[in-house]
Amino acid sequence: MGRRFKIHDIMKITLKGKTPVAPLPVLIVATYNDDGSTDAMNVAWGGQSGASNVTLHLSKNHRTTANLLKREAFTLSLATVDTLVMSDFFGITSGAKTDKITKAGVSVSRADEVDAPVIDAYPLTMECRVMQITDFEGEARVDAEIVRTHVDDSMLDEEGNIDFGKMRLISFDSQMNLYREVGAAVGKAFHDGRKLM
Ligand SMILES: Cc1cc2nc3c(=O)[nH]c(=O)nc-3n(C[C@H](O)[C@H](O)[C@H](O)COP(=O)(O)O)c2cc1C
Repeated sequence: MGRRFKIHDIMKITLKGKTPVAPLPVLIVATYNDDGSTDAMNVAWGGQSGASNVTLHLSKNHRTTANLLKREAFTLSLATVDTLVMSDFFGITSGAKTDKITKAGVSVSRADEVDAPVIDAYPLTMECRVMQITDFEGEARVDAEIVRTHVDDSMLDEEGNIDFGKMRLISFDSQMNLYREVGAAVGKAFHDGRKLM
């Protein structure tokens, strides 16, 4: 009898104190300051939480959190390879100290339905209305409703659908502190699993 080899010799390691959820989004939350100027911050702890809802987890000491409480509105943009440097900058400097929008040199428009600014450089921006803010272990958990979406026409397919394949979205890698580009389509949702039915 010949010798037997284990082909897949995988050793499982258990780790404590890590939260390796992935892929995390890179969401840019824009709000109006008291004087009408714009602030923006980078949020990885957030995502879709219903058919037309998003939830964000924000530290209470951020300028953005104070702005949100007052105006009950914000816009949410998706960061891309082309907007990476600006998006990271929005996450490492507070609007309480720096006018981030002027420093980044980008233009801003007023949202149509909510009291919040739209940063024109992002290809996709959602207007969000705050529904509820709850205290979660001393931080703010923000539930909001998406009421309108702005998208560059160059990011649509021939039928007018939003085509994420064209956007070059980035994801935050919390384990290595990197931004990674969101990759190619590799399967069809609600379809490929049928092979096992
Ligand atoms: C990649 C990345 C992800 C971040 N995610 C969050 C987050 O989910 N929640 C949060 O409160 N702060 C987060 N931050 C930190 C804020 O973006 C940062 O403190 C920002 O300066 C706050 O700006 P503001 O004071 O102008 O609102 C993140 C920063 C980076 C770089």
